[in-house]
Amino acid sequence: MTLSKLPYKGTRDLFPSEKRVQNFLFEKMNITAQLFGYEPYDGPLLEEVDLYRAKSGEELVNEQIYRFMDRGEREVAIRPEMTPTLARMVAQIHREAPRPIRWYAIPNLMRYERPQKGRLREHWQFNVDIFGGKENLAEFEIFNLAITLLQSFGANATHFEILVNHRKLVDYLFKDKMKLSSEVALKLYKLLDRFKKLPEAVFLEQLETFQLSKDHHTLFLEYLRLSSFEDLEKFLTTHHIDSAVWNFGTFFQLTKEFQLTSYLRYDPTIVRGLDYYTGIVFEIFDKHPDNRRALCGGGAYDRLLEIFGEKPLPGVGFGLGDVTLKDFLQSHGLLPDLSKPKNDVLLTFQIDGGMVPVMRLAQSLRAQGVRVITALETLKLNKIFPLAEKRGAKCVSILDDQELISNQVALKNLITGKQITFALNDLSAIIKFIMD
Ligand code: HAM
Repeated sequence: MTLSKLPYKGTRDLFPSEKRVQNFLFEKMNITAQLFGYEPYDGPLLEEVDLYRAKSGEELVNEQIYRFMDRGEREVAIRPEMTPTLARMVAQIHREAPRPIRWYAIPNLMRYERPQKGRLREHWQFNVDIFGGKENLAEFEIFNLAITLLQSFGANATHFEILVNHRKLVDYLFKDKMKLSSEVALKLYKLLDRFKKLPEAVFLEQLETFQLSKDHHTLFLEYLRLSSFEDLEKFLTTHHIDSAVWNFGTFFQLTKEFQLTSYLRYDPTIVRGLDYYTGIVFEIFDKHPDNRRALCGGGAYDRLLEIFGEKPLPGVGFGLGDVTLKDFLQSHGLLPDLSKPKNDVLLTFQIDGGMVPVMRLAQSLRAQGVRVITALETLKLNKIFPLAEKRGAKCVSILDDQELISNQVALKNLITGKQITFALNDLSAIIKFIMD
């Protein structure tokens, strides 16, 4: 029997050219998180299934989780998201930790989904969360950080938008205004969450099954038509919905102050599929017509620590996936060409006696932080340049018997075409030539 060379369905083999792209994304994520003072953390790949049962919601637990019994009869799952692990870890230390707690991670996650563009069974997700931050300021910081990350790739408000809603507002509408029980409200949440994925007729048909009264049906449709913060403001006033439900004024004022409003849009259908959100909820959408999907989702959650017997501690955060981010950058032409590796110099020799001096030079250069690859055999001149090109080397050394006798090395910069011969022991001049 021969085995398939392909990876398990919905997962990727990250060959060097793909891993380079992923590392490029991770580098920007690390830099941005640290610019805002977030500290890296990590957790285990496996968790007990109960951790997700407690708050993540039925869809994730019943349909998307990879679960199995371990040898000790414990029911475990490969992490499908990071937030429950984060909450479990924060529950251990939050009493002693200075607040707010600002943490980030880039874990790989697995969900049993139907693989398609932008959706795989394994993806890496940039998670950024803040606990114990002042309301509105914490939300603002999280939005600002997400925008700063996308801006660092050259993206702006023409490329993406942040669709925003608030769970308290939807709760108030469903429970207080429409008098729905918690159970029915949750079902309506699920339907609302699928609004963009369903054809309108199917959505309305499913809405019928809720048998809403005429007034409540009209109110719900009026709510669904809201498409800006101005619309929302009018709706809240007309229906006497108190600003205590969502005092978005302060949050909105901050975003105005820092010219971020052009990125934000109110969207009544954003409620998020995960059950733990209690406050603001948002998704970052790609504006490219071929790629209309969320590359990031997040929100505020007040009560996640309660499941560990701790007092509530408000948190806000988001997850931004590597698959969707790459699609986003690619569709807008914002991904640099990373098809080749990057090396500073390829050191080669054309005669056997050249190997030792070349290896010595390589060691001295590496000790000074120069990225060096060496040929491991003698190379003819016509082989050297194509090899340097493939290895992404900026410079190349040529060392034949002439140079060997006089303890010299010729270096050529492949970008400028400049070639200079140096004494082999003139390390500082060699480094200057390579790194300039
Ligand atoms: P989520 O909306 O399930 O949220 O995932 C966040 C992002 O991860 C999505 O917008 C998408 O970019 C990416 N993503 C999710 N599933 C897949 C998949 N199967 N394939 C490729 N990309 C995917 C959460 O997971 C929350 N725990 C985020 C969070 C952190 N909320 C607060 N803090």
